[in-house]
Amino acid sequence: MKTAVYVYTGTGNSLWTARELASRIGQAELISLNRHEKQLPLCEADIIGLVFPVHIWGVPPPVMEFLDLIKTNPKPYVFAVAVNAGQVAATLIQLKKLLQAKNLHLSCGFSIDLPSNYIPWGGAISQQKQQKKISAALEKIERIAGTVRNKEDLPVEKGSLWQNIFFSLIYKKSLPHIAGMDKSFFADEKCSSCGICAKICPARNILMTEGKPVWQRRCEQCFACIQWCPEEAIQYGKGTRNKKRYHHPDISLKDMLACTEGKKS
Ligand SMILES: Cc1cc2nc3c(=O)[nH]c(=O)nc-3n(C[C@H](O)[C@H](O)[C@H](O)COP(=O)(O)O)c2cc1C
Ligand code: SF4
Ligand code: SF4
Repeated sequence: MKTAVYVYTGTGNSLWTARELASRIGQAELISLNRHEKQLPLCEADIIGLVFPVHIWGVPPPVMEFLDLIKTNPKPYVFAVAVNAGQVAATLIQLKKLLQAKNLHLSCGFSIDLPSNYIPWGGAISQQKQQKKISAALEKIERIAGTVRNKEDLPVEKGSLWQNIFFSLIYKKSLPHIAGMDKSFFADEKCSSCGICAKICPARNILMTEGKPVWQRRCEQCFACIQWCPEEAIQYGKGTRNKKRYHHPDISLKDMLACTEGKKS
């Protein structure tokens, strides 16, 4: 039984989740969606998994783009994990509908709550709090792997009704503006011109010009650039200068760059 786990990630939470899950499901191949090609080979796996972060209470645009492109065997078993910071809202309901439109059935969809990478709303939480979330996530991943191995069919996880209605509206209103939200990014005087931000960006949205990053208005809002800059030189508006950066503690810059370069994770 072949399993393909597709993963999109900005700060490693989804990559870590996908890895932990794949190792428990067995015979699973991890495929990175960071900078995926516009033409995808037929996916012949019997089980297909999608692991991605929740962005603005919904499915991130690159994942939607991938769903437009994927071609599969007639009836794969499909599962999903929406990695978030406590507000999955209607993300998995949205995903289920997107898959239905492709004649694919989402058999189960889970929320995994890990530390937030949305730095405008707060810097990294303490290492102790991070570990608490990671341990709880691991327990849930163990259960998810069992569900997938048994090919169970369950309702997808979702937020409360008011959250789903209200946040879905905000998601829809925000979608057309995501690409241009990078206008709030800038590199401050600490920038050492290392170019890591340009290399790690899944959207190829950063060009190095005279040794400094210049954002190109095709942002995916994954926050990889700001969170992985080794000098903490990237800011997002006025409020991020003194906030602690975050990426998953078990995911390295090398892992992320491999993901972006399309190498096996
Ligand atoms: C632009 C943006 C929007 C986000 N929106 C949500 C959200 O709606 N709900 C939520 O719980 N977390 C939200 N987050 C937090 C991420 O989903 C969360 O930190 C996730 O674990 C990041 O996964 P990654 O490390 O694989 O990128 C958002 C993060 C970013 C950067
Ligand atoms: S990663 Fe940071 S230090 Fe390196 S070029 Fe980008 S902004 Fe400058
Ligand atoms: S510019 Fe930054 S936030 Fe936007 S897609 Fe690239 S790495 Fe992600």
